[in-house]
Amino acid sequence: MKIVVVGAGYVGLACVGFTEWGHQVIGVDIDADKIARLNRGEMPIVESGLPELVAKGKASGLLSFTTNLAEAMKGADMCFICVGTPPLPDGSADLQYVDVAVASVKAVMEPTTTLVIKSTVPVGTCVRLGTASNPEFLREGRALQDFLHPDRVVIGVADDVSKKKLLEVYASIAAPKLTMSTASAELTKYAANGFLATKISFVNEIAAIAEKVGADIRDVSKAIGLDPRIGPHFLRAGIGYGGSCFPKDTEALMKIADLNEVDFEILRAAHVANDRARQRFVDKVLAATGPNPKLAVWGLAFKAQTDDVRKSAAIDVVELLLAKGASIIAYDPTAIDNAKCVLGDRISYAQSPSDCIIGVCFLLVLTEWPEFREAIRTVQSLGDCKLLKIFDGRNLLADLALEKQGFEYVGVGLGKRD
Ligand code: UDX
Ligand code: UDX
Repeated sequence: MKIVVVGAGYVGLACVGFTEWGHQVIGVDIDADKIARLNRGEMPIVESGLPELVAKGKASGLLSFTTNLAEAMKGADMCFICVGTPPLPDGSADLQYVDVAVASVKAVMEPTTTLVIKSTVPVGTCVRLGTASNPEFLREGRALQDFLHPDRVVIGVADDVSKKKLLEVYASIAAPKLTMSTASAELTKYAANGFLATKISFVNEIAAIAEKVGADIRDVSKAIGLDPRIGPHFLRAGIGYGGSCFPKDTEALMKIADLNEVDFEILRAAHVANDRARQRFVDKVLAATGPNPKLAVWGLAFKAQTDDVRKSAAIDVVELLLAKGASIIAYDPTAIDNAKCVLGDRISYAQSPSDCIIGVCFLLVLTEWPEFREAIRTVQSLGDCKLLKIFDGRNLLADLALEKQGFEYVGVGLGKRD
């Protein structure tokens, strides 16, 4: 099939995966610089496996990038809309990019092309715009893996032709393909993200109790997760969820609930609890350091394996501490450039984890980058290191027995430690 993908962001670029099943993919974006970079073989985002898949797709002739939508749409079987849907100030999704993208495609598309929205859009959007719906469930950092080996494919359609084509485009994968109305598909995406966000907030509140009663949240999470009705995933306590999806989609879902006069109190509570998890951590830091502390921060990305800082809990924690007069030096393996766009010169930036902690007494671990586990071992051997206390917002180093190496260690929900 010939597939046009509109929007070369995280979601659009994951659609390069279609080439693995033999489809031809043309990536279109209005950002000429982004397209030029992709054509030079430079990746605009950090995503595992993407450079290799782009190179392979180009070499086979199945993949190309352009800003010329009209040219790309000639003879296209399908077109996937993957432009962003950022939140408006009231929490609802901003559909201006989707509306413009759909209108631009419709102006040039042939009658036989099937138009599909992959972007996360409020229920009713696909009916309003006359498109099919095929929400994505990709996690940044493993987006290609998720694209190529999904748990399920959700196909929202109003007609048999769209249904047949969407089933065909995913014919190579074994996962269940669920066909439903576009409204059900749209709601599925919000329900999935809302549920997972709630699960994280639930475990963060249990972690707060654990700290008070002398329990260890890691033991509790492991034990409840072995119940298949609960499942082991998304039970890691920390400073709360971030990223381009959970915060935005929970807010948008609350808005959808309001509009439909459904009192979605659980989701509202999960949202509030997410802010509370950040604040609790900050309060803990400030209680130990006193006012205007000098702090080292490891991790700015919203999670490991990405350079994305959108709604990053790490950035939120940094902002809260800056507001309390902290001076901060930070290191992140990939996200410093993006973080600079938000934090500018309000903090300073280090070239490595060990540079970051030179002469600093307090270290905050805010993103769960596995390499920080290795880095802390090197720190232990630095003779001039004044580091005394580690606040770990991800419990990343909790099992390393750092106290035995002379550090004070504070995690999240670790009420009792050996
Ligand atoms: C995606 C989804 O679209 C969003 O609904 C979901 O909830 C999160 O992930 P993402 O891929 O992260 O968004 O967006 P972004 O990285 O902002 O990329 C969007 C791309 O679309 C940009 O490169 C932008 O230049 C492009 N774009 C935008 C167009 O090509 N045409 C437009 O009209 C608008
Ligand atoms: C999420 C969904 O998982 C994906 O299906 C959807 O399409 C887009 O949104 P993503 O935002 O890439 O993906 O990240 P994810 O791995 O889900 O993590 C989201 C946030 O939750 C991160 O900030 C992460 O640190 C946090 N998290 C995750 C926890 O705090 N605890 C956990 O146990 C799991």
